[in-house]
Amino acid sequence: MNRTILIVFSTLLFIIIGSFLYIQIYLGFHVDAIESTNETENFEYYYNDTLNKEEPAMSSTGTYPVTSSGIDLDALKEPEKKKPKNTSSKNDFTPKKVNTRLGSYQQLINRDYELPNDYQPDDLTEPEVRFSFYGSNDKRKLRKKAASALEELFTAAEESDCILYGVSGFRSYERQSTIYNQNLLKKGSEHTNLYSAKPGTSEHQSGLAIDVSSRSASLQLLENFGKTEEGLWLAKNCWKYGYILRYPEDKVTITGYAYEPWHIRYVGKKLAKYLYKHNLCLDEYYGYEAQTSTSKHTKKKK
Ligand code: DAL
Ligand code: ZN
Repeated sequence: MNRTILIVFSTLLFIIIGSFLYIQIYLGFHVDAIESTNETENFEYYYNDTLNKEEPAMSSTGTYPVTSSGIDLDALKEPEKKKPKNTSSKNDFTPKKVNTRLGSYQQLINRDYELPNDYQPDDLTEPEVRFSFYGSNDKRKLRKKAASALEELFTAAEESDCILYGVSGFRSYERQSTIYNQNLLKKGSEHTNLYSAKPGTSEHQSGLAIDVSSRSASLQLLENFGKTEEGLWLAKNCWKYGYILRYPEDKVTITGYAYEPWHIRYVGKKLAKYLYKHNLCLDEYYGYEAQTSTSKHTKKKK
């Protein structure tokens, strides 16, 4: 009898320990597998995919707020949004002359202020930070100053127990074309134009922008990243290292892009601090507002 109890007990113990080990090994392997394969490529293609249950860019009617005549940015406005803490009155801010100097850290790059197709910075380098993937790839790179600022930023984040990962830094014009076209095929033009810049209009080509994520956001580029500890830390502190959140939640009608809590842009410490303290996005600082399908605003063309 005692022997039977012993056998049953040992078997149960074996099953419990075995299951525990299996789960641990499986999870560990699975996460590392994501990092070590090209799956991360897809992260650049699928912003706010089905994993993101909230689908932030979708209007209350369940459709993406885009009309055939253009992006209806007004539809992205949330009705009763909380006022941001550092709101500056538009009246007390005079927009600056648009900086179009190619290679300037403060250069405005957006739908209307493009980069030359063949532009590639000559000081691209790889920051020594964690990335969400293994292997050599140009998307690890940033311009020299932006790279060392990113190292400082990631170190400071780690000191606050926030482990950040680089997902996508520099992209050539050709690579942006591939990403944009993939997005068009898989997501359609409406979604694509809210999340993906046309080749020549992406800050990634400047080597001054990088998408970052965290394990708490499954190393993906999802709106939920903004609600994680790491995403909140990033939004609050990146200005100290010369970075800004380029597409904030409360500026979608100005930037013309959906909220991207993962996309940070290096502009240098002085401007980053100014923009953060005055709650301005870069476009706003230069008096630019994306043209909406309903807007009468006339854009300045380069
Ligand atoms: N997601 C930003 C807008 C880009 O594609 O550059
Ligand atoms: Zn980005």
